[in-house]
Amino acid sequence: MPIKCVSPDYVMKLYIETFGCQMNVLDSQLVEGSLARDGYTKVSTPDEADLILYNTCSVRDRAEEKVRSRLGRIRGLKESRPDLVIGILGCMAQRESGKLLSAWPHVDLVCGTRELHRVPELVREIQESRRPAKATDIRADFVFDTMPRPGVDGPLAYVSVMRGCDNVCSFCVVPRTRGRENSKPLQAVVDELKGLIDQGVKEVMLLGQNINSYGKGLPGEPDLADLLAALDPIPGLERIRFVTSNPWDMTEKLFRAMEELPTVCEYLHFPFQSGSDRILESMRRDYTANDYLRLVDRARALVPTIELATDIIVGYPGEDDEDFEATVRMVREVEFLQAYIFKYSVRPGTTAVRLGDPVPIPTKKSRNRILLEIQDEITLRKRKEKVGQTEQVLVEGPSKKVPEIFSGRTRQNHLAVFPPDGTVPGDLVDVLVADCTPRVLRGEVCSR
Ligand code: 5AD
Ligand code: SF4
Repeated sequence: MPIKCVSPDYVMKLYIETFGCQMNVLDSQLVEGSLARDGYTKVSTPDEADLILYNTCSVRDRAEEKVRSRLGRIRGLKESRPDLVIGILGCMAQRESGKLLSAWPHVDLVCGTRELHRVPELVREIQESRRPAKATDIRADFVFDTMPRPGVDGPLAYVSVMRGCDNVCSFCVVPRTRGRENSKPLQAVVDELKGLIDQGVKEVMLLGQNINSYGKGLPGEPDLADLLAALDPIPGLERIRFVTSNPWDMTEKLFRAMEELPTVCEYLHFPFQSGSDRILESMRRDYTANDYLRLVDRARALVPTIELATDIIVGYPGEDDEDFEATVRMVREVEFLQAYIFKYSVRPGTTAVRLGDPVPIPTKKSRNRILLEIQDEITLRKRKEKVGQTEQVLVEGPSKKVPEIFSGRTRQNHLAVFPPDGTVPGDLVDVLVADCTPRVLRGEVCSR
C-alpha cells in the first residue's frame, strides 16, 4: 500500500526527468505509463512529487554530473519529507549499481536498463518496507512488450526494435550499460506500430543502439530491410525513420529498401566518429575513412536524395593535429546535413581508459568549435539550396519558440516553420520554402 494513500482521493505524483538519447525518452514514457496504472500523475517540479525519478545517461561524464547535481539539490526535500521516494534509473544506475545507494543515502531505488518494467513493484516495496531497492540484472531477455505507454502525444512516436550493443568501441560505455543485443520480434513491432497508428501516430522513429544489426538471433533472422518492408504497407503510416546505423552493418539491401519503400525517409544517422585511420583503429571501429567514404558514395548512388548525419568525437586519446585534420576533411568532403560533435570523455570500464585523457581541454574545445563552424556553414548552404523549392512536411504542431507558428520536418529531416494556415498536427503538407536560417527552413503551406 502506498503510504501516502491516507485519503482515497489522494493522487500520487510523479516527477520524472530524462537525460540522454531517444531510447531514454521512450523508456521514461514506458515507466510513466506503467506507473499511471498505479495511479500516478506526472508533475512538473520535484517539490510537488511523491516519487522522483531520474532516467540517466552515462555516455559522457557531463551527463552523469548533471544527475549528481540534481541529487545534491533534492537532498533537503527528502529530509523534510521522509516518505518521498527517489529513484535513479537507466544507464548510470546500471553502471554504478549498488554504489549509488551508499554514495547517496537519500536515494531509495536504483533500477538498471533491463529491469524498468519492475519500477512500479519496486516503488511499492520501498513504500512498504522503507528500505532501498536495487534491480540491475542485465539479462538479455528484456521483456519489451509488457510496459504500457502513457498514450501518444502528437503524430510522432518512438519504437524500440532492438536494444544493447555487441560492438566493442573502445570509448563507449553503452555495451556495459545496455547489455547484449536483443531484437524485438518482427510481428511484435508490426503490432505495436498498428496500435500507435490507431491512436493517431503518422511517423515512427525506430530505435536501436546498433539498429542495422536488427534481427540477429530472431527466428528466420529478418534484417532491418525486412522489418522496414513489413512496416511500410501498414495503412495510415506515413513515415519511418531509424537510428543509429553503424558503418559495418550497412548493406545494399538496406539502401535499396530506403529508396524503394515510400514511407522510409531519406535520412541516415550514420556516425563516423573520426576521419583518421589511426584513431579509428584505436577506437576499434573496424573500418577506414575510405571504407566510410565508399559507403557514402553507395548511399548517394542508391538513394539520390539522401541526407546524412553523423557523430564525431574530438580529443580522443592520441588525436594529434593531423588526425584532427583528417576529421575536418571528412566533414568537408561528405557534407552532412547535421553533425553531433562530442568532446572525448573517459568512461570507467571502457578499454580506452588505459589510454588516459592526454588531449588538453582547450584543444578539445577549439577542435569542437572549428568543426561546429564548418558544419554550420555546410548546413546553412544545404538549407539555402531548399529556398524556392517545395518540401513535404509532416505537421508537428506549435513551434517551441513561437507557438503561433507551426513546425514540422521534411523527409530529409530539415526542420521547417510556417503559419498554421488551417493545418493540424499529423497533416502531410507541401511547404514552399521562402527563406532559411542555420537552424530552420521558413515557408508557407502551398498544398495539402
Ligand atoms: N566521449 C565522448 N563522446 C562519446 N560518445 C560515445 N562515447 C563517448 C565518450 N566516451 C559519442 C559517440 C556516439 C554518441 C552517442 O556519443 O559519438 O556516437
Ligand atoms: Fe557504443 Fe560503438 Fe555500440 Fe555505438 S556501436 S553503442 S559507439 S559500442
